[in-house]
Amino acid sequence: MTDLMKSFLTGIESELQKQVSRLDAPRTKEYLEMLTYHMGWTGEGAGPEATGKRVRPLLVLLTAMAASGEDQQTSQFNWQAVLPAAAAVELLHNFSLVHDDIQDHSDKRRGRPTLWVKWGMPQAINAGDGLFVISNLSLLDLAENYPAETVVKAATILQNAALELTRGQYLDISYEKRASLGAEDYWPMISGKTAALLSACCDLGALLGGADEATQEAYRSFGHFLGLAFQLQDDILGIWGNEVVTGKSTASDLVEGKKSLPVLIGLEKKGRFAARWAGGPIQLSEVEELAKLLASEGGYAQTQEMAKQMTDMAINNLRTASPQGQAGELLLNLANKLLRREA
Ligand code: IPE
Ligand code: IPE
Ligand code: MG
Ligand code: MG
Repeated sequence: MTDLMKSFLTGIESELQKQVSRLDAPRTKEYLEMLTYHMGWTGEGAGPEATGKRVRPLLVLLTAMAASGEDQQTSQFNWQAVLPAAAAVELLHNFSLVHDDIQDHSDKRRGRPTLWVKWGMPQAINAGDGLFVISNLSLLDLAENYPAETVVKAATILQNAALELTRGQYLDISYEKRASLGAEDYWPMISGKTAALLSACCDLGALLGGADEATQEAYRSFGHFLGLAFQLQDDILGIWGNEVVTGKSTASDLVEGKKSLPVLIGLEKKGRFAARWAGGPIQLSEVEELAKLLASEGGYAQTQEMAKQMTDMAINNLRTASPQGQAGELLLNLANKLLRREA
Protein backbone atom coordinates (compact mmCIF):
# COMPACT_ATOMS: atom_id res chain seq x y z
CA MET A 1 0.00 0.00 0.00
CA THR A 2 1.28 3.46 -0.85
CA ASP A 3 2.09 6.04 1.85
CA LEU A 4 -0.70 8.25 0.53
CA MET A 5 -3.29 5.49 0.98
CA LYS A 6 -1.96 4.79 4.47
CA SER A 7 -2.27 8.46 5.43
CA PHE A 8 -5.77 8.57 3.98
CA LEU A 9 -6.87 5.48 5.92
CA THR A 10 -5.42 6.80 9.17
CA GLY A 11 -7.04 10.19 8.61
CA ILE A 12 -10.41 8.58 7.82
CA GLU A 13 -10.34 6.41 10.93
CA SER A 14 -9.56 9.28 13.28
CA GLU A 15 -12.20 11.54 11.68
CA LEU A 16 -14.77 8.74 12.05
CA GLN A 17 -13.84 8.30 15.70
CA LYS A 18 -14.11 12.01 16.31
CA GLN A 19 -17.55 12.11 14.70
CA VAL A 20 -18.91 9.06 16.53
CA SER A 21 -17.64 10.44 19.85
CA ARG A 22 -20.51 12.96 19.66
CA LEU A 23 -22.41 10.21 21.44
CA ASP A 24 -19.93 10.02 24.29
CA ALA A 25 -22.29 11.23 26.99
CA PRO A 26 -23.44 10.09 30.42
CA ARG A 27 -26.25 7.49 30.75
CA THR A 28 -25.90 6.18 27.19
CA LYS A 29 -22.48 4.48 27.22
CA GLU A 30 -24.04 1.30 25.83
CA TYR A 31 -25.52 3.24 22.90
CA LEU A 32 -22.06 4.57 22.03
CA GLU A 33 -20.71 1.03 22.37
CA MET A 34 -23.22 -0.22 19.77
CA LEU A 35 -21.79 2.25 17.27
CA THR A 36 -18.14 1.62 18.08
CA TYR A 37 -18.80 -2.14 17.89
CA HIS A 38 -20.38 -1.84 14.47
CA MET A 39 -17.58 0.43 13.22
CA GLY A 40 -15.12 -2.32 14.18
CA TRP A 41 -13.31 -0.54 17.01
CA THR A 42 -14.57 -2.30 20.13
CA GLY A 43 -15.92 -5.64 21.32
CA GLU A 44 -14.99 -9.16 20.37
CA GLY A 45 -13.13 -9.39 17.05
CA ALA A 46 -12.46 -5.64 16.84
CA GLY A 47 -9.63 -4.52 14.57
CA PRO A 48 -8.79 -3.90 10.90
CA GLU A 49 -10.73 -7.00 9.75
CA ALA A 50 -13.88 -5.68 11.42
CA THR A 51 -13.90 -2.14 10.01
CA GLY A 52 -14.70 -2.99 6.39
CA LYS A 53 -12.73 -1.69 3.43
CA ARG A 54 -13.56 2.03 3.74
CA VAL A 55 -13.89 2.18 -0.06
CA ARG A 56 -16.31 5.12 -0.06
CA PRO A 57 -14.27 7.61 2.00
CA LEU A 58 -11.17 6.63 0.01
CA LEU A 59 -13.07 7.48 -3.17
CA VAL A 60 -13.95 10.91 -1.79
CA LEU A 61 -10.34 11.72 -0.87
CA LEU A 62 -8.75 10.27 -4.00
CA THR A 63 -11.25 12.03 -6.27
CA ALA A 64 -10.78 15.34 -4.47
CA MET A 65 -7.02 15.16 -4.82
CA ALA A 66 -7.10 13.88 -8.42
CA ALA A 67 -9.60 16.62 -9.37
CA SER A 68 -7.60 19.34 -7.66
CA GLY A 69 -4.74 18.61 -10.04
CA GLU A 70 -2.36 18.67 -7.12
CA ASP A 71 0.00 15.91 -6.18
CA GLN A 72 0.85 15.30 -2.55
CA GLN A 73 4.50 16.10 -3.01
CA THR A 74 4.10 19.15 -5.17
CA SER A 75 1.10 20.83 -3.74
CA GLN A 76 -0.71 22.45 -0.95
CA PHE A 77 -3.91 20.47 -1.52
CA ASN A 78 -5.37 20.20 1.92
CA TRP A 79 -6.99 16.77 1.86
CA GLN A 80 -7.63 16.94 5.61
CA ALA A 81 -10.24 19.62 4.85
CA VAL A 82 -12.20 16.96 2.91
CA LEU A 83 -12.27 14.46 5.80
CA PRO A 84 -15.70 15.51 7.15
CA ALA A 85 -17.22 14.51 3.77
CA ALA A 86 -15.22 11.27 3.69
CA ALA A 87 -16.48 10.38 7.18
CA ALA A 88 -20.03 11.39 6.22
CA VAL A 89 -20.25 8.90 3.33
CA GLU A 90 -18.81 6.08 5.45
CA LEU A 91 -21.25 6.82 8.28
CA LEU A 92 -24.15 6.87 5.83
CA HIS A 93 -22.95 3.55 4.41
CA ASN A 94 -22.76 2.06 7.90
CA PHE A 95 -26.22 3.34 8.78
CA SER A 96 -27.49 1.51 5.68
CA LEU A 97 -25.66 -1.69 6.67
CA VAL A 98 -27.13 -1.72 10.18
CA HIS A 99 -30.65 -1.39 8.78
CA ASP A 100 -29.93 -3.70 5.82
CA ASP A 101 -28.88 -6.52 8.15
CA ILE A 102 -32.24 -6.27 9.90
CA GLN A 103 -34.09 -6.11 6.57
CA ASP A 104 -32.14 -9.09 5.18
CA HIS A 105 -32.17 -11.13 8.43
CA SER A 106 -28.37 -11.28 8.22
CA ASP A 107 -26.64 -12.51 11.34
CA LYS A 108 -23.05 -11.89 10.22
CA ARG A 109 -21.23 -8.78 8.96
CA ARG A 110 -17.46 -8.32 8.61
CA GLY A 111 -17.02 -11.71 10.28
CA ARG A 112 -18.89 -10.75 13.47
CA PRO A 113 -22.43 -11.01 14.81
CA THR A 114 -24.57 -8.15 13.49
CA LEU A 115 -25.69 -5.30 15.71
CA TRP A 116 -29.31 -6.51 15.85
CA VAL A 117 -28.18 -10.02 16.84
CA LYS A 118 -26.23 -8.59 19.78
CA TRP A 119 -28.59 -5.86 20.97
CA GLY A 120 -31.98 -6.65 19.41
CA MET A 121 -33.83 -4.99 16.56
CA PRO A 122 -35.27 -1.93 18.34
CA GLN A 123 -31.82 -0.83 19.58
CA ALA A 124 -30.21 -1.64 16.22
CA ILE A 125 -32.73 0.55 14.42
CA ASN A 126 -31.96 3.38 16.82
CA ALA A 127 -28.20 2.90 16.45
CA GLY A 128 -28.63 3.05 12.66
CA ASP A 129 -30.57 6.29 13.05
CA GLY A 130 -27.73 7.66 15.17
CA LEU A 131 -25.21 6.86 12.44
CA PHE A 132 -27.43 8.59 9.88
CA VAL A 133 -27.66 11.77 11.92
CA ILE A 134 -23.93 11.81 12.72
CA SER A 135 -23.26 11.42 8.99
CA ASN A 136 -25.17 14.64 8.34
CA LEU A 137 -23.51 16.49 11.20
CA SER A 138 -20.12 15.33 9.96
CA LEU A 139 -20.76 16.78 6.52
CA LEU A 140 -21.59 20.16 8.03
CA ASP A 141 -18.08 20.27 9.52
CA LEU A 142 -16.93 21.03 5.97
CA ALA A 143 -17.92 24.59 6.89
CA GLU A 144 -14.65 24.85 8.83
CA ASN A 145 -12.80 24.98 5.50
CA TYR A 146 -15.33 25.56 2.73
CA PRO A 147 -17.82 28.37 2.02
CA ALA A 148 -21.45 27.78 3.04
CA GLU A 149 -22.51 27.58 -0.61
CA THR A 150 -20.23 24.59 -1.21
CA VAL A 151 -21.43 22.91 1.99
CA VAL A 152 -25.06 23.21 0.86
CA LYS A 153 -24.12 21.70 -2.51
CA ALA A 154 -22.32 18.85 -0.74
CA ALA A 155 -25.26 18.23 1.62
CA THR A 156 -27.64 18.12 -1.35
CA ILE A 157 -25.47 15.51 -3.08
CA LEU A 158 -25.36 13.35 0.05
CA GLN A 159 -29.07 13.61 0.86
CA ASN A 160 -30.13 12.82 -2.71
CA ALA A 161 -27.91 9.74 -2.60
CA ALA A 162 -29.45 8.72 0.73
CA LEU A 163 -32.93 9.02 -0.76
CA GLU A 164 -31.92 7.00 -3.83
CA LEU A 165 -30.47 4.37 -1.52
CA THR A 166 -33.82 3.94 0.23
CA ARG A 167 -35.56 3.64 -3.15
CA GLY A 168 -33.11 0.90 -4.09
CA GLN A 169 -33.71 -0.87 -0.79
CA TYR A 170 -37.45 -0.64 -1.38
CA LEU A 171 -37.04 -2.36 -4.76
CA ASP A 172 -34.63 -4.97 -3.37
CA ILE A 173 -37.06 -5.94 -0.60
CA SER A 174 -40.17 -5.81 -2.78
CA TYR A 175 -38.50 -8.03 -5.41
CA GLU A 176 -38.13 -10.86 -2.88
CA LYS A 177 -41.85 -11.56 -3.22
CA ARG A 178 -42.18 -10.85 -6.94
CA ALA A 179 -41.99 -13.70 -9.41
CA SER A 180 -41.95 -12.22 -12.90
CA LEU A 181 -38.83 -10.09 -12.92
CA GLY A 182 -36.23 -9.74 -15.63
CA ALA A 183 -32.69 -8.45 -15.81
CA GLU A 184 -34.10 -5.01 -16.77
CA ASP A 185 -35.65 -4.71 -13.30
CA TYR A 186 -32.27 -5.28 -11.74
CA TRP A 187 -30.46 -2.09 -12.80
CA PRO A 188 -32.75 0.49 -11.12
CA MET A 189 -32.53 -1.55 -7.92
CA ILE A 190 -28.73 -1.59 -7.69
CA SER A 191 -28.41 1.93 -9.07
CA GLY A 192 -30.31 2.99 -5.98
CA LYS A 193 -29.07 0.73 -3.25
CA THR A 194 -25.36 0.82 -4.13
CA ALA A 195 -24.33 2.97 -7.11
CA ALA A 196 -26.01 6.17 -5.87
CA LEU A 197 -23.66 6.39 -2.90
CA LEU A 198 -20.49 5.49 -4.83
CA SER A 199 -21.45 8.08 -7.42
CA ALA A 200 -22.04 10.64 -4.66
CA CYS A 201 -18.56 9.92 -3.26
CA CYS A 202 -16.95 10.89 -6.56
CA ASP A 203 -19.33 13.80 -7.04
CA LEU A 204 -18.40 15.14 -3.59
CA GLY A 205 -14.70 14.61 -4.21
CA ALA A 206 -14.89 16.48 -7.52
CA LEU A 207 -16.84 19.34 -5.93
CA LEU A 208 -14.40 19.68 -3.02
CA GLY A 209 -11.38 19.31 -5.29
CA GLY A 210 -12.65 22.28 -7.30
CA ALA A 211 -13.49 20.51 -10.58
CA ASP A 212 -15.52 22.28 -13.29
CA GLU A 213 -19.08 21.05 -13.97
CA ALA A 214 -18.15 18.77 -16.92
CA THR A 215 -15.35 17.11 -14.95
CA GLN A 216 -17.62 16.68 -11.95
CA GLU A 217 -20.17 14.98 -14.21
CA ALA A 218 -17.50 12.58 -15.51
CA TYR A 219 -16.46 11.69 -11.95
CA ARG A 220 -20.12 11.20 -11.03
CA SER A 221 -20.52 8.73 -13.91
CA PHE A 222 -17.28 6.99 -12.96
CA GLY A 223 -18.72 6.41 -9.48
CA HIS A 224 -22.05 5.25 -10.87
CA PHE A 225 -20.56 2.53 -13.08
CA LEU A 226 -18.06 1.59 -10.41
CA GLY A 227 -21.03 1.16 -8.06
CA LEU A 228 -22.82 -1.11 -10.53
CA ALA A 229 -19.68 -3.25 -10.93
CA PHE A 230 -19.27 -3.28 -7.16
CA GLN A 231 -22.78 -4.63 -6.57
CA LEU A 232 -22.39 -7.25 -9.32
CA GLN A 233 -19.30 -8.51 -7.53
CA ASP A 234 -21.22 -8.43 -4.23
CA ASP A 235 -23.91 -10.58 -5.87
CA ILE A 236 -21.28 -13.08 -7.00
CA LEU A 237 -19.69 -13.18 -3.54
CA GLY A 238 -23.15 -13.51 -1.99
CA ILE A 239 -23.55 -16.92 -3.68
CA TRP A 240 -20.06 -18.22 -4.49
CA GLY A 241 -17.86 -16.27 -2.06
CA ASN A 242 -15.82 -17.70 0.78
CA GLU A 243 -17.59 -16.83 4.04
CA VAL A 244 -14.30 -16.63 5.94
CA VAL A 245 -13.10 -13.95 3.53
CA THR A 246 -16.36 -12.02 2.93
CA GLY A 247 -17.37 -12.14 6.60
CA LYS A 248 -20.98 -12.62 5.43
CA SER A 249 -23.22 -15.63 4.82
CA THR A 250 -23.08 -17.18 1.33
CA ALA A 251 -26.43 -18.87 1.84
CA SER A 252 -28.59 -15.93 2.76
CA ASP A 253 -29.09 -14.36 -0.69
CA LEU A 254 -30.58 -17.62 -2.05
CA VAL A 255 -32.49 -18.47 1.14
CA GLU A 256 -33.83 -14.92 1.38
CA GLY A 257 -35.02 -15.08 -2.26
CA LYS A 258 -32.89 -12.11 -3.36
CA LYS A 259 -33.23 -11.26 -7.05
CA SER A 260 -29.53 -10.76 -7.61
CA LEU A 261 -28.34 -10.75 -11.23
CA PRO A 262 -27.11 -14.38 -11.17
CA VAL A 263 -30.56 -15.45 -9.99
CA LEU A 264 -32.36 -13.38 -12.64
CA ILE A 265 -30.09 -14.87 -15.31
CA GLY A 266 -30.92 -18.36 -14.00
CA LEU A 267 -34.65 -17.59 -14.03
CA GLU A 268 -34.50 -16.30 -17.61
CA LYS A 269 -32.84 -19.58 -18.68
CA LYS A 270 -36.00 -21.42 -17.64
CA GLY A 271 -33.89 -24.50 -16.90
CA ARG A 272 -33.47 -26.64 -13.78
CA PHE A 273 -32.54 -23.70 -11.57
CA ALA A 274 -35.71 -21.81 -12.55
CA ALA A 275 -37.81 -24.94 -11.99
CA ARG A 276 -36.48 -25.36 -8.47
CA TRP A 277 -36.91 -21.63 -7.72
CA ALA A 278 -40.57 -21.85 -8.74
CA GLY A 279 -41.01 -24.75 -6.30
CA GLY A 280 -40.92 -22.52 -3.19
CA PRO A 281 -38.39 -21.13 -0.69
CA ILE A 282 -34.82 -22.42 -0.89
CA GLN A 283 -33.67 -24.39 2.16
CA LEU A 284 -30.23 -24.04 3.70
CA SER A 285 -29.46 -27.69 2.93
CA GLU A 286 -29.84 -27.19 -0.85
CA VAL A 287 -27.86 -23.98 -1.20
CA GLU A 288 -24.52 -25.56 -2.14
CA GLU A 289 -25.97 -27.71 -4.87
CA LEU A 290 -28.17 -24.93 -6.20
CA ALA A 291 -25.19 -22.56 -6.42
CA LYS A 292 -23.40 -25.19 -8.55
CA LEU A 293 -26.47 -25.60 -10.74
CA LEU A 294 -26.77 -21.84 -11.22
CA ALA A 295 -23.10 -21.61 -12.21
CA SER A 296 -23.54 -24.43 -14.72
CA GLU A 297 -26.45 -22.52 -16.30
CA GLY A 298 -24.32 -19.40 -16.81
CA GLY A 299 -25.27 -17.30 -13.75
CA TYR A 300 -21.68 -16.90 -12.57
CA ALA A 301 -19.89 -16.28 -15.87
CA GLN A 302 -22.48 -13.88 -17.26
CA THR A 303 -22.54 -11.80 -14.08
CA GLN A 304 -18.76 -11.65 -14.09
CA GLU A 305 -18.80 -10.49 -17.71
CA MET A 306 -21.29 -7.76 -16.79
CA ALA A 307 -19.09 -6.63 -13.89
CA LYS A 308 -16.20 -6.36 -16.31
CA GLN A 309 -18.25 -4.30 -18.76
CA MET A 310 -19.38 -1.92 -15.98
CA THR A 311 -15.78 -1.54 -14.81
CA ASP A 312 -14.76 -0.66 -18.39
CA MET A 313 -17.51 1.97 -18.52
CA ALA A 314 -16.31 3.34 -15.19
CA ILE A 315 -12.73 3.57 -16.45
CA ASN A 316 -13.81 5.31 -19.66
CA ASN A 317 -15.55 7.98 -17.58
CA LEU A 318 -12.52 8.26 -15.33
CA ARG A 319 -10.35 8.91 -18.40
CA THR A 320 -12.77 11.67 -19.46
CA ALA A 321 -12.31 13.28 -16.05
CA SER A 322 -8.52 13.14 -16.60
CA PRO A 323 -7.52 12.58 -12.98
CA GLN A 324 -4.13 14.01 -12.06
CA GLY A 325 -1.07 12.77 -10.23
CA GLN A 326 -0.65 9.83 -7.90
CA ALA A 327 -4.26 10.06 -6.71
CA GLY A 328 -5.40 9.66 -10.32
CA GLU A 329 -3.38 6.46 -10.70
CA LEU A 330 -4.69 5.16 -7.40
CA LEU A 331 -8.29 5.71 -8.56
CA LEU A 332 -7.63 3.61 -11.65
CA ASN A 333 -5.98 0.90 -9.51
CA LEU A 334 -8.91 0.90 -7.12
CA ALA A 335 -11.41 0.41 -9.95
CA ASN A 336 -9.47 -2.58 -11.27
CA LYS A 337 -8.92 -4.04 -7.82
CA LEU A 338 -12.60 -3.86 -6.89
CA LEU A 339 -13.46 -6.03 -9.90
CA ARG A 340 -11.25 -8.80 -8.51
CA ARG A 341 -12.10 -8.33 -4.84
CA GLU A 342 -12.97 -11.35 -2.68
CA ALA A 343 -14.31 -9.45 0.33
C1 IPE B 1 -21.39 -3.85 1.29
O1 IPE B 1 -20.48 -2.83 1.04
C2 IPE B 1 -22.74 -3.44 0.82
C3 IPE B 1 -22.82 -3.16 -0.61
C4 IPE B 1 -23.21 -2.01 -1.06
C5 IPE B 1 -22.47 -4.17 -1.57
P1 IPE B 1 -18.91 -3.00 1.26
O2 IPE B 1 -18.44 -4.24 0.57
O3 IPE B 1 -18.25 -1.74 0.88
O4 IPE B 1 -18.82 -3.20 2.82
P2 IPE B 1 -17.64 -2.90 3.84
O5 IPE B 1 -17.88 -1.53 4.35
O6 IPE B 1 -16.32 -3.05 3.15
O7 IPE B 1 -17.83 -3.93 4.92
C1 IPE C 1 -26.31 -3.45 -0.29
O1 IPE C 1 -27.19 -4.34 0.18
C2 IPE C 1 -26.85 -2.03 -0.23
C3 IPE C 1 -27.10 -1.48 1.10
C4 IPE C 1 -26.73 -2.00 2.23
C5 IPE C 1 -27.82 -0.22 1.13
P1 IPE C 1 -26.94 -5.92 0.15
O2 IPE C 1 -27.93 -6.51 1.07
O3 IPE C 1 -26.90 -6.40 -1.25
O4 IPE C 1 -25.46 -6.01 0.74
P2 IPE C 1 -24.80 -7.07 1.71
O5 IPE C 1 -24.45 -8.23 0.85
O6 IPE C 1 -25.77 -7.36 2.80
O7 IPE C 1 -23.56 -6.38 2.22
MG1 MG D 1 -27.75 -7.41 2.93
MG1 MG E 1 -29.95 -5.90 1.26
